[in-house]
Amino acid sequence: MSVPRPIVDASALSNVRDIVRAAGDHDLDRLQRLLDSSHFEGCKPVDVQEPEHGYTPLHAAIASCRSDGATDGILEDNESKAYETVKLLFENGAIWNQLDRNDETPGCIAHRLGLISLYQLMVDAGVRAELLLNRLDGYEELEDLDDEDEDDAAEPDSHDESDTEAPELVVTTAEGETSSVQQGLLEASTEDVDSKAYLSSALSFDDEMLLDESQNGVMMKWESDIMARSADLLLSRPGLKILNIGFGMGIIDTHIQSHMNKPAEHHTVEAHPDVLRDLKSKGWQDKPNVFIHEGKWQDVLPELVAEGQTFDAIYYDTFAESYHDFKEFFSEQLIGLLDQGGNWSYFNGMGADRQISYDVYQKIVEIDLMEAGFDVEWTDFDLPNLGAAWTGVKRKYWNVEQYRLPVCKFMD
Ligand SMILES: C[S@@+](CC[C@H](N)C(=O)[O-])C[C@H]1O[C@@H](n2cnc3c(N)ncnc32)[C@H](O)[C@@H]1O
Repeated sequence: MSVPRPIVDASALSNVRDIVRAAGDHDLDRLQRLLDSSHFEGCKPVDVQEPEHGYTPLHAAIASCRSDGATDGILEDNESKAYETVKLLFENGAIWNQLDRNDETPGCIAHRLGLISLYQLMVDAGVRAELLLNRLDGYEELEDLDDEDEDDAAEPDSHDESDTEAPELVVTTAEGETSSVQQGLLEASTEDVDSKAYLSSALSFDDEMLLDESQNGVMMKWESDIMARSADLLLSRPGLKILNIGFGMGIIDTHIQSHMNKPAEHHTVEAHPDVLRDLKSKGWQDKPNVFIHEGKWQDVLPELVAEGQTFDAIYYDTFAESYHDFKEFFSEQLIGLLDQGGNWSYFNGMGADRQISYDVYQKIVEIDLMEAGFDVEWTDFDLPNLGAAWTGVKRKYWNVEQYRLPVCKFMD
C-alpha cells in the first residue's frame, strides 16, 4: 500500500506545483518536459499531489475544464485539450484512482462535471489496471506454487506483495477510511469483512435491516425492489425449479414464494447459523416444495451437482465474500447446476460505493462472464434516495443512483 509522502522540501514543492499547473493548463510540451526532468523520492512525477486540494496532474487536467464564469457549461475546447492531457499522463504511467482531499478520484470529478469523454477515459484506464493487476496476481500464485515445490520448508502463506510488478492501485485518504477504489476492486471483499469472521459473528435482525456484530449492513429493506425485479426476470413462467444462494432477510425468497409464476421447486442455500435459526422459526423448512440446504455454497453446491440436481433459475447474493469467490461460483459451479436455456442473476453491488468503481467493475465482470461462457443482459433502473436508510449502519455501501440488474445465460 502506498501513501503519497508529504513533500516538505520547498524546491520540490515548487516542482510539484509546476507539474500540476502544467496539467491544469493542458500545456503538453511543458508537462512532458517537467515529467521527464523531475525526480521525487518515493513517488513518480506523474503521480505527485499538491497539498492544497490533493490534486494529482490527472485531477488538475480534468478539474480545470470547469466553466470559467464566462459561459455556463463546460468549455468544449477545454474538454478536448484535457483529453489529450489525460492521455499523455497515462502514457507516462499515471495511477487512475488516487484520491484528492475531497475524496474524489479524477474520474469522480469528470463524472460530477458531466465530462463524458474524460469519464470514459478514466473508466477504461481503471479496467486496464484492474485486469493487469488481476493477471499479475494469477502469475504470482503460480510462482508461489513453484516456490513451494522447490522449497517444502517455505511458509505456505509467505506471499510477499512487494515482489509484484503490479502498478500501485492502492491509496489511503488522510482519514484512513477504506473504499472500493482504495482496495483495488477485485481484491476487495464485498463488504470489507472476512467471511470466516462473519459466519461466526452474532447477527441482529429487525424489519429494516440485518446487521453483523460490527454494524455492517448484511441486507437492507431498501433492496426489496431490486429483489422483486430480479425474481420477476428469473421466473419467466410457472413450474420452474429455482435455487437461491443466501437467505438474508428472506426478501427474494418471499417474492419467489408469492410470485404469480409459482415455481415447482424452490431451493435455498444458507450458511449463517443465526439466519438459519431465524428462517426455521418462521417455518420456511415446512413450506411445500421448499428445500433449505444448510452450509456454505462452496460445500453445498458440489453435493447438489453430485445428486444430479439442475435448475432453471439461480440467484446469488452472499455477504463478506470476494470477487474471486464470485468468479469461482460462476466459472466452476454454475456449469453443473444451470440447465441449458436457464437464467441466473446476482446482486450487482460490487464497487457501488462510488460510480466509477461500479462502472469499472461492470466491464470487468462482463469480460469474465464472457470468458466463462455467459451472455449477460442488463436492465438499468433508478433507485430512490436512500438518505435515512443508513442510520445505524457502519458503512454506506451503496452510493450510485441506478441499479444495473444482470440476467445471464449460457452463450448459444
Ligand atoms: C445479502 S444477504 C442475502 C439477502 C437476500 N437476497 C434477501 O433477499 O434477503 C447474504 C446472505 O448470504 C449468506 N452467506 C454468506 N456467505 C455464504 C456462503 N458462503 N454460503 C451460503 N450463504 C452465505 C449470509 O449469511 C446472508 O444470509
